[in-house]
Amino acid sequence: MTILLTGGAGYIGSHTCLELLRAGHQVVVVDNLSNSHAKALDRVRKLAGKDLVFHREDLRDALAMERIFSTADITAVIHFAALKAVGESVQKPLLYWDNNVTGTLVLLEQMEKAGVRTMVFSSSCTVYGDPASVPIREDFPLSAVNPYGMTKLTCERILGDIYRGDPAWNVALLRYFNPVGADPSGEIGEDPNGIPSNLVPYITQVAIGKHPEVLVYGNDYPTPDGTGVRDFIHVTDLSIGHLRALERLEACPGFLVCNLGTGRGYSVLEMIKAMEQASGRKIPYRIAPRRSGDVAEAWADPSRARAELGWSATRGLDQMCEDAWNWQVKNPEGYGGGS
Ligand code: NAD
Ligand code: WQD
Repeated sequence: MTILLTGGAGYIGSHTCLELLRAGHQVVVVDNLSNSHAKALDRVRKLAGKDLVFHREDLRDALAMERIFSTADITAVIHFAALKAVGESVQKPLLYWDNNVTGTLVLLEQMEKAGVRTMVFSSSCTVYGDPASVPIREDFPLSAVNPYGMTKLTCERILGDIYRGDPAWNVALLRYFNPVGADPSGEIGEDPNGIPSNLVPYITQVAIGKHPEVLVYGNDYPTPDGTGVRDFIHVTDLSIGHLRALERLEACPGFLVCNLGTGRGYSVLEMIKAMEQASGRKIPYRIAPRRSGDVAEAWADPSRARAELGWSATRGLDQMCEDAWNWQVKNPEGYGGGS
């Protein structure tokens, strides 16, 4: 298959490019590099020993998108491209609505024009808002507590409407939990802009000495050790979930919603301990007030993905931390440093 990846130079996109090339697919990437580097794609080419096509374009540029669809025989689209920083989305809601929702609308219009009707969409566990219980199932009520989450929920709704209007569309909404880690080569990984707001990149930056300590946001949650609990999932497992979703849509067309998580939660303190083990370094931390908007616990019931996609996560916490650390050590400045 020839797969178009929007946002393919980003964290999850680059790992998925690699798995698609390894599985023998052709890959076309569209990315405006607003939160990524072309170097990630060079490294993917090198790791896979195969080429891919890269267009540096913005999704919202309808003419550019039309040209891209006319130059390749695209079978399906995996739509990663979005802005994803929750805090920034509160400060700049218009930017988030325009980039994430207008971008998706332009993409869908161009897909329709080109007769490409298969999409795997990057959704998020954020669409469950503050869940009433865990594990979280796909049929739980949906809500959004910030503009970023609202854009994801809105795109889910748009895709649902499109499918109901024309069942020739094939759509998989994949709701990721907390992706972490990197390809074991350490050649590609997560390269956050500025100071990371997510836990694992922050911990690895403390371990390497860029920050003095991890601030643990709250230790008075109703969880076993009082700190927040999340379903951390290795980015390679997550990437492979996209291949299974494409295969499933090919074999059995329709509309599908699946959680991509491990089904197991780890607390913030457990993550710090696991990263100390992986790095062999002491990681100082301090308890700080809760971060506004955080939920106590969020972890997936992944049984639908197992049943519908034949997929489940296989990489455990140790590997997540070892691979995240390996990437950090090999690329202390992310893609900005080295060759
Ligand atoms: P990322 O920022 O590393 O990748 C997104 C990519 O999209 C970047 O390369 C960026 O340059 C590109 N992009 C953004 N807007 C664009 C536009 N208008 N036109 C072209 N390219 C554009 O993020 P990621 O972590 O790889 O996330 C990928 C997707 O998964 C996003 O949709 C995100 O919302 C979703 N998601 C991420 C997480 C997470 O914690 N990383 C969790 C759940 C869902
Ligand atoms: C995890 C835990 C924090 C940083 C976010 C988005 C979500 C999805 C995944 C895109 C929480 C605690 C964190 C720190 C800490 N993204 N923490 N100190 O908030 O579960 O999810 O990324 O869709 O939408 O909201 O991930 O890594 O920020 O936090 O104590 O310096 O770590 O309070 O309990 P989160 P996270």
